[in-house]
Amino acid sequence: MRYGISQEILLDISFTLEKGSFTFITGSSGAGKSTLLKLLYLAHLPSRGKIRLFGKDVTKINRSELPGIRQRIGVVFQNFRLIPSLTTLDNVALPLRIAGASEVQVKEHVPELLDWVGLGKHLHDYPETLSGGQKQRVAIARAVIARPSLLLADEPTGNVDDQIALKFMFLLKELNKIGTTIIVATHDETLISRFDLPRLHLESGHLNFPEGSVTNGAIR
Ligand SMILES: Nc1ncnc2c1ncn2[C@@H]1O[C@H](COP(=O)(O)OP(=O)(O)O)[C@@H](O)[C@H]1O
Ligand SMILES: [Mg+2]
Repeated sequence: MRYGISQEILLDISFTLEKGSFTFITGSSGAGKSTLLKLLYLAHLPSRGKIRLFGKDVTKINRSELPGIRQRIGVVFQNFRLIPSLTTLDNVALPLRIAGASEVQVKEHVPELLDWVGLGKHLHDYPETLSGGQKQRVAIARAVIARPSLLLADEPTGNVDDQIALKFMFLLKELNKIGTTIIVATHDETLISRFDLPRLHLESGHLNFPEGSVTNGAIR
């Protein structure tokens, strides 16, 4: 990946993540974690190389196919990126409405999911009235409401306290159990050490496979 005329980052990186896996992308600030996620959720195309998602090389597909692929990917950003003028319910309903769901479906699924993440009493609250942990849960609910196959989270615990970070991880574990492939980018060593998950470790844009977590570039 090259931003403008800058040096290429993420050079000679090759790896495979299995469907249903749960992986950390680790590395210090500037290592390229966010860039790797942006490539995976198709915010950028790589300047060269190949990315296969759901069995398709996304660097070669027709532009018209991109929205369909994006709809299979949920993203949780560090600052959550909730829409301030929308209530909890409407923020979470957004991906469903974009996908063309009916209001009947929205009313059926959104409150149920918000109940599950413990926000059943906040359906009509606006983001500015919610705590950091509550905003994070709205962001997760929005990321998973359309049942993505792949869930990406970029430093999701950077803006919440330890306890909430742990709850967030347990929520992700639940989602992983029902088949969602999960990738969490973080430089939070405490969080990483608490979970026995495979790591893709980036250093200055290069990939290192910590011993034991990887075979032939494929994470098991
Ligand atoms: N939009 C951008 N334009 C130019 N350079 C960028 C941009 N985003 C990231 N970079 C550079 O790419 C490198 C990797 O950044 P990033 O992917 O944000 O790393 P991380 O998420 O691990 O902190 C850094 O050198 C950063 O300065
Ligand atoms: Mg980052």
